[in-house]
Amino acid sequence: MTDQLNADVVSQYELETWTRCAEAYLSHFADLTGETVQLLWDAARIKTGNKVLDLGCGPGHVAGAFTDLGAVVTGIDFSGTMIDIARQRYPGATFQEANAEDLPFDDAIFDAVASNFVVHHLARPHRVFSEIARVLKPGGCFSFVVWGPPEAQSSVGAFFGAVATHHDIAQLPHGPLFGADESAYESPLTANSFTDLQFENHTILWKSDTVDPVLQAFLEWGNISALPQDIQQKIEATARENLESYKTAEGYTFPHEILLGSAKKL
Ligand SMILES: C[S@@+](CC[C@H](N)C(=O)[O-])C[C@H]1O[C@@H](n2cnc3c(N)ncnc32)[C@H](O)[C@@H]1O
Repeated sequence: MTDQLNADVVSQYELETWTRCAEAYLSHFADLTGETVQLLWDAARIKTGNKVLDLGCGPGHVAGAFTDLGAVVTGIDFSGTMIDIARQRYPGATFQEANAEDLPFDDAIFDAVASNFVVHHLARPHRVFSEIARVLKPGGCFSFVVWGPPEAQSSVGAFFGAVATHHDIAQLPHGPLFGADESAYESPLTANSFTDLQFENHTILWKSDTVDPVLQAFLEWGNISALPQDIQQKIEATARENLESYKTAEGYTFPHEILLGSAKKL
């Protein structure tokens, strides 16, 4: 990746990307990212009846699962399309369109904040971590999940490898924590009144009968249809070939290493 860290550019890119692929996200990626619900719940020490914020809730599946586990959940996302989907699918939770950089909540009202596969996309993580600290009650916990090292990402790696071969992956704008390891999270957390930092690595699995839904999800996310047709075809063919190497007797299994972080507000 290049140093394309202009925060406004990153923010606009993220908003457009997630809005464009909101429907596809629900039908494909959400199966994978939903694997972390219990990890986030346990790491944020959430209890039945707790007031919980799901920050960057996307199509709302984590907020919905937390609600089923007994929490009182509010999900926020800056994509109005994601929020519309979340409201329709998970009426037991409350959803609000909002930018995580400027949360529309009073101070110290949440027992816990959880954020699943969001913070590595943030254009201004320091500002968001400060907002999370502001809305958390003292002693409340923040848990988050991001991808582990790039070489431990099977399906993501298969797609990124194909884009790198036939196009230029460095063209994608990205925020300062994209691809970072756990040490990069220490400063934004400790600078914002968080203590008791903990990090764990876990592996989650994405299973599919065919490679098609997985491939489709990545092509849509990467906006590959906007590229010249010959490049599109090459990327698709190479990504398919790379994904095929994860075939097992029971279909396809894609393992992904994740980093689970948690911290307590002082
Ligand atoms: C990879 S998706 C994760 C969705 C969901 N949390 C999950 O578990 O799959 C990232 C989400 O973060 C949202 N997001 C990114 N930056 C944001 C910001 N500054 N404020 C609010 N939402 C943001 C995006 O719109 C998108 O829905």
